[in-house]
Amino acid sequence: MPEDIRKNFSSDNVVRVCPEVMQALMEANNGSASAYGNDAHTDLLNTRFGDVFETEVAVFPIVTGTASNSLALSALVSPFGSVVCDQVAHIQNDEGGAPEFFMHGAKIVTIPSPNGIMQVDALQNIIHEKKAAGLLAPPIHALSLTQTNEWGIVYQPSHLAALSDAAHAEGLSVHLDGARLGNAIASLGCAPADTTWKAGIDVLTFGGTKNGAMAAEAVVFFLNERTRPYVQDFKRRIKRSGHLWSKHRYLSVQLLALLENDLWLHNATHANDMAQRLSIGLAQHPDITLPYPTESNEIFAALPETIIDTLEKAGFGFYRWTTPPHITGTIIRLVTSFDTRAEDVDAFLSHITI
Ligand SMILES: Cc1ncc(COP(=O)(O)O)c(C=O)c1O
Repeated sequence: MPEDIRKNFSSDNVVRVCPEVMQALMEANNGSASAYGNDAHTDLLNTRFGDVFETEVAVFPIVTGTASNSLALSALVSPFGSVVCDQVAHIQNDEGGAPEFFMHGAKIVTIPSPNGIMQVDALQNIIHEKKAAGLLAPPIHALSLTQTNEWGIVYQPSHLAALSDAAHAEGLSVHLDGARLGNAIASLGCAPADTTWKAGIDVLTFGGTKNGAMAAEAVVFFLNERTRPYVQDFKRRIKRSGHLWSKHRYLSVQLLALLENDLWLHNATHANDMAQRLSIGLAQHPDITLPYPTESNEIFAALPETIIDTLEKAGFGFYRWTTPPHITGTIIRLVTSFDTRAEDVDAFLSHITI
């Protein structure tokens, strides 16, 4: 095996910054610029994102996905309200209580869904159930969906639109956690608008860090009657939470670099292609099963412990996942990125030959 093989498949967070983003950071590292988002790079964000999403937007760069989700939801949900999401959603399980903290104690209400894809009737049922409870239940003010979802599965735009319609009909706003939105769009082959505002999404957490940035996400409001009031004081929310970077230009240039020449979609397409290569290779092994379809850059595979042991001893990195009793073996999660190479995938697969 070549010495420099990249063995860490544990997350798309573990990889380096992509060269184009690093170059943009270097180029921006010149002279002085106004602080707190009043610089020339940040000024370009609304126009550039507006071009990509083909609509009017208000864009707020934030360093982490957790803060982006939490700040976005804090605008949509009153402290006495709640947000509904799938039971495996990142905001529910992986953000350390930040959404509840930022929402001033508002509740997260969860629903179980097949493969983490929320169903319209389940959404309607929970909304009606909470309404029927009157003052006993915090009213649901927002729906939060994740694209791609926690299993790397991609919502079809028509399904997102049906969920958004059901939510809007009951007065909810709709948030999309797009930590891996680029991977979803690359997988769907659709326009960014199709899986966002045209599918009823009001506010998006646009993911950059998993797709080549050093640290940059963006809260993107798709401007309409519902969202304009949220935008008004959003910068104050950012400031009050300590997330208003003074040297804002370094955040903004990362996002601009990702949008330039569709780099974000090229990076995501490459990551997805590498995931397909890995998934196809894994599926050929008689003792390996894939509990979820590989639709983006995350692969979940159930492997015998003996193979996991071999891979770990060979130095490959991945996470063991909770494995339901009906699955034989142990589920591991593998994630590919812009930086994964075909030879890295093949080196991994060479350790599980039959
Ligand atoms: C779906 C999803 N949303 C949000 C986040 C949060 O990102 P961060 O770690 O930057 O807070 C992650 C990170 O793993 C994620 O997978």
